[in-house]
Amino acid sequence: MSPKELIQFFRKLASNYFGESEIVVLRAIKDWVDLTSDLQFLSSGATRDVYDIDEHSVLKVAKQITDLKLNNQEVIASRCLGKTYASEVIAADPEGFWIIAEKLQPVAYNDFAVWMEDELNYSGNPNTFGDLLINQNDEVHQYLYQHNLWFKGLIDGLKRCKVDPFDMGYKNWGFRSGQKNPVLLDYAFEAHLNESIKIRLSTLIFN
Ligand SMILES: Nc1ncnc2c1ncn2[C@@H]1O[C@H](COP(=O)(O)OP(=O)(O)O)[C@@H](O)[C@H]1O
Ligand SMILES: [Mg+2]
Repeated sequence: MSPKELIQFFRKLASNYFGESEIVVLRAIKDWVDLTSDLQFLSSGATRDVYDIDEHSVLKVAKQITDLKLNNQEVIASRCLGKTYASEVIAADPEGFWIIAEKLQPVAYNDFAVWMEDELNYSGNPNTFGDLLINQNDEVHQYLYQHNLWFKGLIDGLKRCKVDPFDMGYKNWGFRSGQKNPVLLDYAFEAHLNESIKIRLSTLIFN
């Protein structure tokens, strides 16, 4: 099924379910994706299930209605961060039930470690790359901010676009073919997330 056909299908589904509660609509979308469509499940994180559409695109479906705002946030942040740092959002449901995003090659732990070594001269833990982005007092952060244009652009972009980097370990990065630096595939957290949400999510993320 092409992205266009998928969008048409979702439009029809939305009109059939007009006036229904968010829970009912999300259930209908998930049931169709999992049980009826031929979309292959690719992967999931704490808040979205991700399916293969074609060689260029993936479908990201909110897991719970509390996750709808994350898809909405990703749409806003993708435009703000731009292509150098973020996967493109190709199409999105206005309510945040789903988005269609540019497909990237998810990064393996070791490949991310090698990239950090080669490009940033940094031998940290790929799981906690987000900590390096957050921690402005860290010497490595400060050095990279001053000497690495990619790093500086990323930090400035996250700030400008109000994106919270706490969850930016290697699992939320992908490679775009022909590009040496990785690109975010998950950048859905608004800055200044409440601490209790972070704690809940980090247990999910690292388990
Ligand atoms: N644009 C994409 N291209 C390829 N794989 C993706 C893309 N977005 C997400 N994925 C895969 O799906 C997983 C979960 O998606 P993610 O956006 O991280 O959702 P969550 O908000 O639940 O963490 C990712 O870790 C990655 O493996
Ligand atoms: Mg993720």
